[in-house]
Amino acid sequence: MSLTKLVLTTVFVVAIVASILYARTRREPYAPVQPIDYSHRLHVTEKKIKCDFCHENGQGKTPYMLAPSAQKCALCHRAIKPDSPEVQKILQHAEAGTEPEWKRVTGISATGSVFFTHVPHLQAKIECSTCHGPIEEMDRVTRFVEPTMGWCLSCHEQTPNQIRKVPHTNVEVNRLTDCAVCHR
Ligand code: HEC
Ligand code: HEC
Ligand code: HEC
Ligand code: HEC
Ligand code: HEC
Repeated sequence: MSLTKLVLTTVFVVAIVASILYARTRREPYAPVQPIDYSHRLHVTEKKIKCDFCHENGQGKTPYMLAPSAQKCALCHRAIKPDSPEVQKILQHAEAGTEPEWKRVTGISATGSVFFTHVPHLQAKIECSTCHGPIEEMDRVTRFVEPTMGWCLSCHEQTPNQIRKVPHTNVEVNRLTDCAVCHR
């Protein structure tokens, strides 16, 4: 192989590797296209609908924050813009008694068998936006944080008044950092 060829090949390979690495760091945040083009910005900021009108967890009975039923959307939309093609989709679900397959945006990977519930977090008065970002500004919901162990711990470590003594020792630890809190 001639020297020029070698140099050119090297430059070529370096350029490809560099562009792959660059593309990785520039990866767009996760924001899946939803079955209906529903906008939080429009409903929350402009139309002043509160989060808990749509998302509730049965006063703490479920760990999940439920998505509103098609029936709830239809409460308004049978009268508001019923002819809009996107609104038609939700009205058809309400008619048929089905729900759109909303795509998960925030989701802990199933591999770690992690236990998460909204209940203690809402009781501790943590804002939705601390974990989900400025939802009220989003036309399409974008993932705000990667729910990794490091992220959970970074907050749990700093939560005050959680100190407990390890039995039979004088060692003090933050109860919320016990493995068994999140891995059950
Ligand atoms: C009019 C009903 C309605 C209101 C009001 C509303 N939401 Fe939603 N929300 C939805 C629907 C429908 C979805 C599922 C489709 C989507 O992601 O856009 C959703 C999805 C979400 C998700 C993504 C869940 C996931 O899969 O990770 C979050 C987070 C969220 N909402 C938070 C909020 C917060 C915070 C507020 C108040 C600032 C709010 N929502 C107000 C209807 C509503
Ligand atoms: C301490 C952080 C935290 C707070 C505060 C929080 N969430 Fe979440 N939320 C999460 C995590 C983590 C998930 C993913 C849960 C999973 O994968 O099991 C999630 C999931 C969701 C989902 C998808 C359905 C579900 O429950 O898995 C919705 C909707 C949602 N949150 C809405 C809200 C709303 C509305 C508020 C405020 C009332 C809120 N969240 C407050 C961390 C939080
Ligand atoms: C409390 C009443 C209310 C509820 C509940 C509600 N909406 Fe709306 N929605 C509105 C209003 C008001 C508008 C703005 C209409 C306009 O532009 O004149 C709107 C606009 C929309 C639009 C845009 C229509 C267009 O073509 O411009 C869509 C799509 C939509 N809503 C879907 C939904 C879905 C899906 C749900 C349930 C998750 C929902 N809405 C729940 C009041 C509501
Ligand atoms: C922004 C801060 C914050 C983040 C982020 C956070 N937590 Fe928490 N977590 C808390 C607070 C505060 C409590 C309530 C402590 C108390 O009961 O006084 C709590 C309580 C819990 C509890 C109940 C503990 C018990 O037994 O009383 C579990 C389980 C939990 N968190 C899991 C998680 C997981 C899993 C994640 C990440 C996906 C996470 N948390 C992220 C602040 C946070
Ligand atoms: C505050 C919550 C929390 C605590 C406390 C916690 N973890 Fe985790 N852990 C997580 C979450 C969330 C994940 C999933 C991370 C992901 O999917 O990126 C995870 C993932 C893991 C995994 C990787 C599992 C897999 O295959 O993905 C291991 C191993 C693990 N944790 C061990 C531990 C050990 C050991 C402790 C105690 C020293 C501990 N964790 C304490 C939240 C926690």
